[in-house]
Order: sequence, then C-alpha cells, then structure tokens
Amino acid sequence: MSSTHARERGLKGKVALITGAGGGIGRGIARCLAEEGVHLALADISQSGAETAAEEMEEFGVNVIPHTLDVTDKSQCVDIVDAINKEMGSLDIVVNNAGVIGGTDFKLGMPLSDINEDDWDDTYNVNVKGVFLLCQASLEKMKGKGWGRIINISSRAGRDGRETIPHYSASKAAVIIFTQALAREVARAGITVNAVCPGLIWSAMWEQLATQFRKKFPNFKGKAAREVFDYFVEQTPMGVEQSTEDIGRAVAFLASDDAKTITGQAILVDSGAVMH
Ligand SMILES: NC(=O)c1ccc[n+]([C@@H]2O[C@H](COP(=O)([O-])OP(=O)(O)OC[C@H]3O[C@@H](n4cnc5c(N)ncnc54)[C@H](O)[C@@H]3O)[C@@H](O)[C@H]2O)c1
Repeated sequence: MSSTHARERGLKGKVALITGAGGGIGRGIARCLAEEGVHLALADISQSGAETAAEEMEEFGVNVIPHTLDVTDKSQCVDIVDAINKEMGSLDIVVNNAGVIGGTDFKLGMPLSDINEDDWDDTYNVNVKGVFLLCQASLEKMKGKGWGRIINISSRAGRDGRETIPHYSASKAAVIIFTQALAREVARAGITVNAVCPGLIWSAMWEQLATQFRKKFPNFKGKAAREVFDYFVEQTPMGVEQSTEDIGRAVAFLASDDAKTITGQAILVDSGAVMH
C-alpha cells in the first residue's frame, strides 16, 4: 500500500563531506545520503576515485563536487572545509571514512614482528590523525550554527582486537575513544559525534587483506581472495557479509533527526560478530 505521508528525517538539503569517497564503503555512504537529498562533497586522495564516485551520484539529482584530499595534511583539511562552506553553503555532516590497513609493504601482523614501523605510522596517520584533523577543521562553523553531525568509520576490529591486524585494531579503537571524547565536548553545541563499526565488506581493502592471508596461512593457499573473505563471513553468527549500503544506512540514520539524541556511540554493523 502506498502512503502519501513519506517521513522526512531532516536530511534533505544538508551538505555532507565524505572522505575516502572513492572506495567501496565511501561510495555506499554517498549513495545512501544522496538518496535522502543530501548534497555531497566527495573527497579522496585519489583524484580519479573522487571523480568516478561523483559521476556515479549524478542520478540522484543532488549537488556533487569531487575533491582531492589527503586527510593526513592539516592545510588540505582546513582548505576543503573552507571551500565547501563557500561553494555549497555550509558543511553539516562530516563522514570520516578514509582508512588504510598498513603501509605499502603491508603484511599480516602475526607474529607481531611482521608489522613494520611504516605499517604502524601510515595506519595511525590516516585512520587516527586524519579523523582528528578534519574534526578540528570542521567544528568551529558547526558550533557557530548550533548543528552538526560527525560520523567516524571505525571497525569491528576496534571493538575486538584481531591478532592478524593489531596496528589496525588499535587505530580503530583509538577512533572510538576519540569519538566519545569529542562527543562530550560538543554535546551542548547541537553536534553529535558517533562511530560506525563495519564488519566484513568486500572492497579493495579486503582484497588486500585476503591476499596476505593466502600468502601466510597454509589453509588458505590456492584459494581465491574472495574465498578467503567468504570463510570469515561464514564464522559470523548471521553468516552474511555487509553491503556498502548497510554501512551507508547506518551513517544516514546517525546523521538524521531520528538519531538526534544519540551521541558518543560506536554502532556495530557486523552480522552479530561482536556483541559487547
Ligand atoms: N572493508 C571492510 O570490511 C571494512 C571493515 C571495517 C572497517 N572498514 C573501514 O571502512 C573504511 C572504508 O574502507 P573500504 O573497505 O571502503 O576500503 P577502500 O580501500 O575501498 O577505500 C578506502 C579509501 O580511502 C582512500 N584513502 C586512503 N588514504 C587516504 C588519505 N590519506 N586521504 C584521503 N583518502 C584516503 C583510498 O584512496 C580509498 O578510496 C576504512 O576506514 C576502513 O578501515 C572497512
């Protein structure tokens, strides 16, 4: 039965910045926000990634502007926020989604001696420092207008450390605690700060991870990367992977009026893998 009373949940006409928007989850988040009428600034360190994502959003009829952005660079973070405030009116929603799982020579960190300093530093720079820099750059204007939403993409690994990716797990746990600390600071300023913790999503990052599992563990030798991924999916209570839209919908919920009194939370979207 169709209804003439479609629910508006306060997202139409808002402006969101999504980092890592050229990647799998970033594009899923972009689609879910665009569906609700949110205008998008799509940022990625890869210019072609940002541009391709922007082209994909054309069908939604919202304003979409691609940006090249390295979230580890403070001046780039300040400049992009200024540009969005000028070009698109005001920045309402920041989705810190850009993330990496290691440096250029990443190997699984089991044993721990296999993780090198570049893995640790690159992961912390993007996953933790990048979140801090963009929050810092965005907050002043949000405080000034008394409304804002910050949504940080953490991970199931940030709630339950994984032995194969200890550096990544630690970085994603740092994102959750940073989320809580900032949520408290801005709680009276009309700004909510939350995290989403995805479980298993088939993306470039998981392909990179699966390749390393195949190299290191004999039981995965000869398997396709996708089969390695499917093995981990099967270990979860529900036995299903997350789509990029599953993550996008959680982000849209947290950005919407439906979540206006939710702050400082880290919501797992992971087929029940972690229940604490
Ligand atoms: N795929 C999963 O199963 C999974 C699970 C839990 C959490 N996550 C998190 O979700 C987020 C998105 O991951 P994904 O799976 O879509 O991976 P992805 O590799 O497809 O996308 C990551 C994007 O971030 C961009 N990026 C990397 N460094 C950057 C930088 N310095 N500045 C700006 N952009 C940069 C990349 O170019 C890429 O487009 C990450 O934070 C990741 O840690 C993913």
